[in-house]
Amino acid sequence: MILNTELENKGNQFPSKIISYKKDVDTLYFTSENNVVLQLTIQRDSVLRFRYTTTSIFENDFSYAITRYASRGFNHLEVTEDDSKYIITTSKLICHISKEDMRKSIFDAKDNTLISEDELGFHWEESYEFGGNIVKMSKNSQEKESYYGLGDKPVPLNLKSKRFENWVTDSYAFNKDTDPIYKAIPFYTGLHHGKAYGIFFDNTFRSFFDFCQERRNVTSFWAQGGEMNYYFIYGPEMEEVVSNYTDLTGKPHELPPLWALGYHQCKWSYYPESNVKEVTNKFRDLKIPCDAIYLDIDYMEGFRCFTWNTDYFPDPKRMVKELSDNGFKTVAIIDPGIKIDKDYSVFKEGLEKDYFCKRADGPYMKGKVWPGECYFPDFTKPEVREWWSGLFKELIEEIGVKGVWNDMNEPAIMDVPGKTFPDDVRHDYDGNECSHRKAHNIYGMQMARATYQGLKKFSYPKRPFVITRAAYSGTQRYTSTWTGDNVASWEHLTIANLQAQRMCMSGFSFVGSDIGGFAEQPNGELYARWIQLGIFHPFCRTHSSGDHGDQEPWAFGENITDIVRKFIEIRYQLLPYLYTAFWRYATEGIPILKSLVLYDQADVQTHYRNDEFVFGEKILACPITEPNAKGRRMYVPEGNWYNFWDNTLVKGGNEVWVDADLDSMPIFVKEGAIIPKYPIQQYVGEKVIGELHLDVFYKLGKEKSQVYEDAEDGFDYKKGRFSLRNFNLLGKEDSLTIQQFKSGKFITSYETFEINLIGLPFEIRKVEVDNVKIDLDSCLKGNVLVITKEFTELRIISKKAVILE
Ligand code: GLC
Repeated sequence: MILNTELENKGNQFPSKIISYKKDVDTLYFTSENNVVLQLTIQRDSVLRFRYTTTSIFENDFSYAITRYASRGFNHLEVTEDDSKYIITTSKLICHISKEDMRKSIFDAKDNTLISEDELGFHWEESYEFGGNIVKMSKNSQEKESYYGLGDKPVPLNLKSKRFENWVTDSYAFNKDTDPIYKAIPFYTGLHHGKAYGIFFDNTFRSFFDFCQERRNVTSFWAQGGEMNYYFIYGPEMEEVVSNYTDLTGKPHELPPLWALGYHQCKWSYYPESNVKEVTNKFRDLKIPCDAIYLDIDYMEGFRCFTWNTDYFPDPKRMVKELSDNGFKTVAIIDPGIKIDKDYSVFKEGLEKDYFCKRADGPYMKGKVWPGECYFPDFTKPEVREWWSGLFKELIEEIGVKGVWNDMNEPAIMDVPGKTFPDDVRHDYDGNECSHRKAHNIYGMQMARATYQGLKKFSYPKRPFVITRAAYSGTQRYTSTWTGDNVASWEHLTIANLQAQRMCMSGFSFVGSDIGGFAEQPNGELYARWIQLGIFHPFCRTHSSGDHGDQEPWAFGENITDIVRKFIEIRYQLLPYLYTAFWRYATEGIPILKSLVLYDQADVQTHYRNDEFVFGEKILACPITEPNAKGRRMYVPEGNWYNFWDNTLVKGGNEVWVDADLDSMPIFVKEGAIIPKYPIQQYVGEKVIGELHLDVFYKLGKEKSQVYEDAEDGFDYKKGRFSLRNFNLLGKEDSLTIQQFKSGKFITSYETFEINLIGLPFEIRKVEVDNVKIDLDSCLKGNVLVITKEFTELRIISKKAVILE
């Protein structure tokens, strides 16, 4: 109860009329009579930052989310005013700011469409308990507006009519609609009148988004502290919005090693060593490709991070080497809780150096996790991150572990109501000291960052691989992620599909779910269907809690084993295709999975679709998410698509029935696509690639495709040692022409392409490589052509065209 009636009665407060305006290069300041300052920064022609203070003084401008590599600069900026407003014009946007009350409207500069408009706009309530403000923003929802994004929310893609909270939370066996769960990504995309824009509310306090739930025509967002500080990101294509957001919050600092895109096997826990070997050997015996094996918490001595249980693992270095000789990369878990144990070196050092988090009045933050009572490093302090990264020396450099799995980093605390630290815990926040209210959502991110720094240092000259459970915007720069403790149910298979797509449209593409479900046990059918979806997720790992039976590909009988193998083999064949998509994500911020709305926002049929998605640029996949299915109905987007299994053509823009018995799933390839494939390997690098297979899907018309390759690990690609092939395909009635433009200095191991021509409407009579006719008897078998990788122009000509020549 607040006894100070003056404070209690204040309620919402609003900026009053603007009394001054100032411009400082790319930043504009508008000050109201009641001391509100709106700072508007023109980050780019299409990206505007709005920041408000109610005290006329801004806090130190610091963000963990925004990368220092974010693009800045614009082509045009003009500020004018009339009686009622300021008018800010860039080459992409026009922003009006009302002199009366600071409310804003933003228009597309090309055609004047109203894109975003403040309803009440910025307002705030003073927080008596904590000081500062509860900061709020409300906007009018535009006609037929849809909303997407927000990270890992386990709900259908279109967020309209719902309200959400951002507070990273350990959510064992969460459910459809559980909110919040593990991640806080306060970024959404709005879409109306065929145009998309994004809002990134860069505020790490507990925050909320309401998409027309409370009031039918109003969208609002607010946070329990900090600043009203948000970025408006214009498209108008949704893909541009996501890639601009990813530019702002960062792309992965490097490509993953290619093995990280292979299949991973995990369980809580594989131990002792003989059990690990049994599992890895079985993969090789059964010829199921697999690249990584995980060690969960039982590898440690009493769950102490950076130790080994030597009864279970007497010689970890030897074991890791033997696994590596068999093609397996070892990934080990590391949690944030450090066991309180005066004989444990990590604990002692952390204590001596004063690296653990403390409560407001001085005691250490003590909480129970797997090892029992623990203290927790303050990863928001640079020295602590440096120390933490150094702790990986032995694990990575000496023992040879290739990847680290950060878990429980929300941070999760057992047996307490909030499941995490109390609000009063203090954090350094990189010199901007604060309470846990502000640091909570970035704690896990900073742990993953420190881990990443350790791996980067000690894995060198190889690339680091990290996986995290908790994340805030920007975490994608350092690590991959998974969707946490899901359940082996059909509903969760649907949720996994939604979450992976949503994470990709939230700038974080390196994502996957625990295939088969973490809690409870799937039957063979559910497991097979989940693998089918999982091979299309950028991160592909089976994981389970282990206490409900086995969850390896062979645990459900031979029939299922065969299906699982077949799909994992498809994943391995498609590795160069997925790697190319990853490269586009890492260089341009293009999401690896494209929900149909992101793929084709002009088609309103896509605005409420959930199941179908485009994997990379050209492959359409749709999981079967019900038991006993013989197929399903799905929406095929505009254009013509080849059925992956039998190459029959389907015309898009329609809902169609697709047969898919348990050994199949609906997969289509866009016409005109050139899909690169590697031979099936049991692990990345098992084989030297002797020939690059290209599936070429004929199209009457033009289509572009790309293939990116490099040494598959290491950093040479950053110095230009990559191979990028740009293919332009042009199909006519009686000929097919493919042009190749190659860049980069990497020399691929193969000399030839094996080109499989699919859907050619004519019989091949003549083939020319760079204008020279080649001998078909030696190069062509059926519709498969073997030619040099060095061509610039390949022409495939029909009989009719030959006669006409
Ligand atoms: C958490 C993780 C899970 C892991 C378990 C034991 O529940 O989410 O993946 O297996 O802890 O470490």
